[in-house]
Amino acid sequence: MPFPGPDFMAWAKTLNHDIKYDLFSSGMHGLMTEAELGISADTIKVWGNNSYGYQPLKELLAEKYNVHPDQVMTSQGSSGANYLMAAAIFEKPGGTALVETPCYQPLLGAIQGAGATITRLLRSFHEKYAINLDLVKDAWTPNTRLLVLTRLHNPSGVDIPIDTLQKLNDFAAERNAWVLVDEVYLDYMDNPVPGASLGSRMITTSSVTKVYGLGDLRFGWVVGDRNLIQRALQINDYISVINPFISEYLGYRILTSEPVMEILHKRIHERVIGNQAIFTEWINSLPGIEWIPPDGGIIAFPKIGDGTAGDRLAQILLEKYRTALTPGRFFDNPSHVRMGFGADPVMLVEGLQRVKAAYSELIS
Ligand SMILES: Cc1ncc(COP(=O)(O)O)c(C=O)c1O
Repeated sequence: MPFPGPDFMAWAKTLNHDIKYDLFSSGMHGLMTEAELGISADTIKVWGNNSYGYQPLKELLAEKYNVHPDQVMTSQGSSGANYLMAAAIFEKPGGTALVETPCYQPLLGAIQGAGATITRLLRSFHEKYAINLDLVKDAWTPNTRLLVLTRLHNPSGVDIPIDTLQKLNDFAAERNAWVLVDEVYLDYMDNPVPGASLGSRMITTSSVTKVYGLGDLRFGWVVGDRNLIQRALQINDYISVINPFISEYLGYRILTSEPVMEILHKRIHERVIGNQAIFTEWINSLPGIEWIPPDGGIIAFPKIGDGTAGDRLAQILLEKYRTALTPGRFFDNPSHVRMGFGADPVMLVEGLQRVKAAYSELIS
């Protein structure tokens, strides 16, 4: 299957910059100034050896995931990691990927573009977006090579329990298949247990984009089976060849700076807890909106009404309120919207007031 045409990412990249209230972002930003990061130009290394990943960084990540450094590949964001793993898994034609729905569309598109036939695993609103193991079994065919999930779930923010992940690992092991869990949102949780530490068929992809607000570094990674990683590295020899050294070097500097990580974690924690409370109080005050509270993080996927109500709400907000949230159609659910509440709390409160005003117009 070819890559799909322009979709969510094209929308997100060309969104009108006149927007004042950002309720569409799913990541943190502006948590630290560049000065606070403590990286002055004269201490930055521009050249170095990272032919197959900057070794100190691979060792650092290996320790975090409790695996061998050969099971770690650095990548250009979680996105780069997702694509390269899919390219390795679907190199031989004829394979199927079972991909959650609703799903972050670029993830779905990358797996499709890597050559997989796509089938879908419903994470339903009525089951609080949980993984239904019976549905996994029902959807599985002899051609299924990969199950694709996100954690926390984008768009709902719901986590997957450890015992479910373990069952999925065992299920995949019996079928010589893989479970790729994009865990780019996982560090919003306190003391999270990453998927790749739970079994040999699990693959975790992640990056510093969302939780740490450092997406401009384009620094990500994947942890998983050594042979798969090896093949993905060889495939990358034909794509980006080597990741920008400077990204990996800066990523390493940031992740190993105790003062920086301490401040970042403190600010992330405060922002998440404070904003979750603001958002929860706000949404519970609106009759007619149904939602599943997220297990952590700063996104939720409320149901606004019927039909295309979510799309219409997003449209009113863009046209009249200089406010953006993500229309649910990008997640196959046009009656929903994905709301991101990671903004500065003052801006968040003002943005939510605008959503309330637009919602009143929608239902009047
Ligand atoms: C599930 C998921 N994976 C990956 C990404 C992109 O991450 P990165 O910047 O690490 O490529 C996003 C961004 O929204 C996402 O939601």
